[in-house]
Amino acid sequence: MKLTILGGGGFRVPLVYGALLADRAEGRVTAVTLYDTDADRLTAVARVLADQAEGVPDAPTVLATTELDEALRGADFIFSAIRVGGLEGRAADERVALDEGVLGQETVGAGGIAYGLRTVPVAVALARRIAAVAPDAWVINFTNPAGLVTEAMSRHLGDRVIGICDSPVGLGRRIARLLGADPGRAWIDYAGLNHLGWVRGLYIDGRDELPRLLADPELLGSFEEGKLFGAELLRSLGAIPNEYLHYYYFNREAVRAYQDAEQTRGAFLRDQQEGFYARMRDPATPALTAWDRTRAEREATYMSENRDVAGAGERAESDLESGGYEQVALALMRAVARNERTSLILNVRNRTTLSVLDADAVIEVPCLVDANGAHPVAVAPLPYHAVGLVTAVKAVERAVLDAAATGSRATAVQAFALHPLVDSVAVARRLVDGYTKAHPGLAYLNRA
Ligand code: G6P
Ligand code: MN
Repeated sequence: MKLTILGGGGFRVPLVYGALLADRAEGRVTAVTLYDTDADRLTAVARVLADQAEGVPDAPTVLATTELDEALRGADFIFSAIRVGGLEGRAADERVALDEGVLGQETVGAGGIAYGLRTVPVAVALARRIAAVAPDAWVINFTNPAGLVTEAMSRHLGDRVIGICDSPVGLGRRIARLLGADPGRAWIDYAGLNHLGWVRGLYIDGRDELPRLLADPELLGSFEEGKLFGAELLRSLGAIPNEYLHYYYFNREAVRAYQDAEQTRGAFLRDQQEGFYARMRDPATPALTAWDRTRAEREATYMSENRDVAGAGERAESDLESGGYEQVALALMRAVARNERTSLILNVRNRTTLSVLDADAVIEVPCLVDANGAHPVAVAPLPYHAVGLVTAVKAVERAVLDAAATGSRATAVQAFALHPLVDSVAVARRLVDGYTKAHPGLAYLNRA
């Protein structure tokens, strides 16, 4: 099996390679091709992978290239994990939004829209190339905003592109462990869009155990989402929201905390990552050690402003271990490659799963996966509070896709204006002005 990683110079690539190294089963990935537009970053990451492979018999071979077609040719699986505009772009997304008093997170609110507007045209170009050069490959999209980008690519790749995220898995795992259950045996009733979903039930041996958690204030106060949202809100919803809903339910507090922070998340990561890639230019730097230290710091500081707002304290030790994205991706690849039937929460086209959305809308729900791909399973209908947010945000995503396809500035303004976390059309207009000034990649928004 050949795996190609687009964005192969990215910082999280060693997590994927580590998961591949641990896979000894038949039909495993034996060749990895890293594609990136930045040769320096490729060299840095390839050094970390070489350290990881040391002493492992039959470690997957690694080839790095800046030639797209060469990377795509013959690939069985393609991971897309790109960051258009880099972390400097992410920092600009945050700054422009916060200056307008709205959220600039990379996947939620104004920041997510800006990031989507810049990323969709690039993702579409890649999807077109894949359709031409590697039409039989399965594409696993990691690129944020993951739901929107997966939907953009699905218009060219159909159901051969599947989007993934670690947050529903992490949430399900936390709840199962709290309830004393084996996460691998639990069925999680989760539904929504990427970074906009709710766990409405958690079944163990056919019985919904979530009510037991919701009825126990002490248990509720003991895990990440309980601390973020508070027991009262969770009990009133009768569900556990994805952590990203903190940006909606506590928007004012989150915006203020991000405005008051010394540095935004994007600016912190930009500096941190610059430091890492710079150190890697010195051949004396121990690659794997340097990478792992940087990774640990990144994990420990994840969503720290939100946790400060909620007084949630440090992240739990068990949430710092890896086992997120790379495990979901590996499980998905194994199920497809070996027809090993499994269930995973994935971003796929809706078909008829959520009746409030059309068939082509990419949603995030439990899926059965086998050699024929990912098939969404029937879930309970969304409650109205979720319908409100999910349909509003899908309308925003559709406006982003339209703006990216037509170059219409008015449609881009509409995308911002329709978002529940942007409170005025005037703000939306200024956001489009600010973002087009900050990002050369948005110059295409030059039509009425
Ligand atoms: C989680 C989310 C991802 C996101 C990452 C951001 O894993 O599910 O979508 O990319 O966190 O972490 P960062 O360290 O970039 O803030
Ligand atoms: Mn995610």
